[in-house]
Amino acid sequence: MNITVIGTGYVGLVTGACFSEMGNIVYCVDVDENKIKSLKNGIIPIYEQHLKRIVNNNYNNRNLIFTTELKEGLQNSDICFIAVGTPMAEDGCADLSVVFQVAKNIGQIMTNDLIVVTKSTVPVGTGHKIRKIIQKELDKRNVNYNFEMVSNPEFLKEGTAVEDSMRPDRVIIGSEDEKTINTIKELYAPYVKNHDRFIVMDIRSAEMSKYASNAMLATRISFMNEVANICEKVGADINKVRLGVGSDNRIGYSFLYAGCGYGGSCFPKDVSALIKTGEIAGYSPKILNEVENVNNEQKMVLVNKIKEKFGEDLSNLSFGLWGLSFKPGTDDMREAPSIVIINELIESGATIKAYDPKAREPAEAIFVNNQNIEFCDNKYDALDDSDGLIIVTEWNEFRSPDFNEISNRLNNKLIFDGRNQFDKEVLNKIGFEYYQIGA
Ligand code: UDX
Repeated sequence: MNITVIGTGYVGLVTGACFSEMGNIVYCVDVDENKIKSLKNGIIPIYEQHLKRIVNNNYNNRNLIFTTELKEGLQNSDICFIAVGTPMAEDGCADLSVVFQVAKNIGQIMTNDLIVVTKSTVPVGTGHKIRKIIQKELDKRNVNYNFEMVSNPEFLKEGTAVEDSMRPDRVIIGSEDEKTINTIKELYAPYVKNHDRFIVMDIRSAEMSKYASNAMLATRISFMNEVANICEKVGADINKVRLGVGSDNRIGYSFLYAGCGYGGSCFPKDVSALIKTGEIAGYSPKILNEVENVNNEQKMVLVNKIKEKFGEDLSNLSFGLWGLSFKPGTDDMREAPSIVIINELIESGATIKAYDPKAREPAEAIFVNNQNIEFCDNKYDALDDSDGLIIVTEWNEFRSPDFNEISNRLNNKLIFDGRNQFDKEVLNKIGFEYYQIGA
């Protein structure tokens, strides 16, 4: 099939690359000329496993075309995916200005029948608004092309985005048009081979499914963080409680890890947008508001533990910090708990030596001109002259470090672990004072 994907951000680029990998001709369109130029030169703006290889191979095979001209894509395509950003606006709603601009452009430019698919996470009702915008532009031009709207929310996770796209758990198709549904099924058939993973529903329910999924996962995390905080008070161990809870088939083990809060480009913005959707529609969500509140407080838990140990004033103290990205496997710093933790420690007088396997560059950009943080090339270098180690993101390379090296480099054998990587008993035995979440 011939496809246009509008937006070359996380979702757009991965989606476009994975469609081209199966032999489709994909036009990836973006208004950012520099980005398109870089992509043509094989430079991928984000770190994501396997992505560079797939993009470059398919670009060289001419399955993947990068362009700033929407027209070039649309006139050659049967399907057009909208995959532009829907960031959080100041009032907590999803900012749909780019989505609506794209809809307008489609209506102004399209020269043939088209299936228009929203992949961007958009509030319920957006698909219908997009339809109206496109139709209005067609009416202005006095032309009449058939176009069908589909909601096809994206569930990929950063760090495993390519695998998630190549083997999705489910493909939600929000559409009521039989022919359109069959075309989308045909497109996705190679990705869901031998499994019936299509779920067909109306557009509004498809849009809501994406928000409800992310909100459910965020709720599980905040719930476990809350239980962890209670565990600490009553002498229980969240690491054991997690096993006791997750072993119930009805609950399952995933997304039950207590930690120093969730971040990223999705959970914070989507929980907030769903709260707003409810409020605008006349229902004030209760659980979702608390999911957000618990998460904001959870980002402070490590700082509170450090202050319990050293007092409110952290002047003359320095900490080694491992892990800056919001989760392992990505260089994405959006809403990363590390930002809150670092700012708070520096505010209280401390200095930081930070290390991350991939996120150094974006983190440097965030803390540019801040003299109180230094970035290191190696995890052990971050410990020199430091009064303790803080672990914020659970990259694989932090899982079984050389504890002799750690104790040789640190001033104190002290670890504050926001991701519960180690066995407390083992660490205590080798002389470490070890603080984790919920135990
Ligand atoms: C999420 C959804 O999982 C994905 O389906 C959607 O398409 C986009 O949003 P992503 O933001 O890439 O994906 O990361 P995810 O793996 O879901 O983790 C989000 C945050 O939750 C991270 O900060 C992670 O550290 C935290 N987390 C996750 C926990 O604190 N505990 C857990 O048990 C799981």
